[in-house]
Amino acid sequence: MMPNRRQALAITCAALGAPGTALSAPFVLRAAPVTAQILPAGDGATGLWGYNGSSPGPEIRRRVGDTLELTFENAIGEGSAIHWHGIRIENVMDGVPYLTQPMVADGENFTYRFTLPDAGTYWYHSHNRSWEQVARGLYGPLIVEERRPPDVHHDITVVIDDWRIERTGEVVENFGDRHDFSHAGRLGTYARAITSVSQVRRGDRVRLRLINTATARIFPLEVSGLSGKIVALDGMPLSRPRDIERMFLAPAQRADIIADVTDTVKFVFPTRQDPYELGEISVTGQNNSPFVTPVAALPPADLPAPADIPDRRVTLVMQGGAMGGVHRGDDIWSFNGISGLMDDPWQTIERGETVQITLKNDTAFPHGIHLHGHHFFELNPDGSPGDLRDTTLLQRQETRDILCVFDNPGKWLLHCHMLGHQASGMKTWVQVT
Ligand code: C2O
Ligand code: CU
Repeated sequence: MMPNRRQALAITCAALGAPGTALSAPFVLRAAPVTAQILPAGDGATGLWGYNGSSPGPEIRRRVGDTLELTFENAIGEGSAIHWHGIRIENVMDGVPYLTQPMVADGENFTYRFTLPDAGTYWYHSHNRSWEQVARGLYGPLIVEERRPPDVHHDITVVIDDWRIERTGEVVENFGDRHDFSHAGRLGTYARAITSVSQVRRGDRVRLRLINTATARIFPLEVSGLSGKIVALDGMPLSRPRDIERMFLAPAQRADIIADVTDTVKFVFPTRQDPYELGEISVTGQNNSPFVTPVAALPPADLPAPADIPDRRVTLVMQGGAMGGVHRGDDIWSFNGISGLMDDPWQTIERGETVQITLKNDTAFPHGIHLHGHHFFELNPDGSPGDLRDTTLLQRQETRDILCVFDNPGKWLLHCHMLGHQASGMKTWVQVT
């Protein structure tokens, strides 16, 4: 149980104003050291970094089409910036130091202002030295409500993370560990699901917004105690909602569930030994006026349709890492033999082009590849467009094609969201003109 943390989350949500407030007042997001109760109450506290006094930072909740304006104040003792993960945003607001904005030095601030084009579950996080800053807690949920949100009794955010901490709660301070970087990344010693609501009634219809904020861990996840559907992935509605079965959430990936509560809602991380309980939402009482309509698809996002025949086809090969073959990159990981960002973009794309990218994982580890500023289709093996995502998981030696309409001008990162892999070479960028 984490009463302090839950309280903090609830209080900050209230302070941010009612959901979907049309006139959203500017506010401040201040990054600074915080103390969090990661371990069960009574055990040691953990020193992290957070926004507005908590990690996860406050839930920012707005309605689709709203403009979000906020001032980021940096008080963590080193440079930072905030990236709005999954938002099809104006390039200058994307939050990548040196590529899209100046670094926000300690003691300085930066005002972000952008509109929210798509309803869905998103998140924000630091984008400087992210393998450390995100692992220390600099992230929070960003929820964009539909114009007419689906009927539910509770809209619940579920942040799933792991932390590398001692039994005392103290952070293990080996963030840049090269051995971690060359393997699966900085895996935590303790994991949990932090829910924004701790109690529901049997018969309540709930919307669960799952967000994997871990910097390295892919969570296999089982959710029990409810009956319903998965309705969205990475913020994007599924045209046909799916049954809730075991999911795999790569770092940065999200999933939305709408379902009716039948029992204690449990979030379980199945492991080879005993299942690891990440958290639960307890049940008291009965809702005697449940919603009886079946869970329906959410309204589709308004994205540009891809061309029938892609304007170009390109291949991106993930290489390097421990137990990988030889690669030409000068760091641990590379894309197409090149580690890190070049001065010139990997691709210069004319605005509106449909590009098919073959992602080829030629390494001994899985990677979650994220494209900034756009969503893309994962292509099914038969070539038909599958799910819309902003982060796609490739298992070791797996190949998948994605299809993207690059309609958002600017400089966009494309990188592994295992943040230690990104730090040690697995990133590139494209320019949309
Ligand atoms: Cu969620 Cu480049 O990041
Ligand atoms: Cu990776």
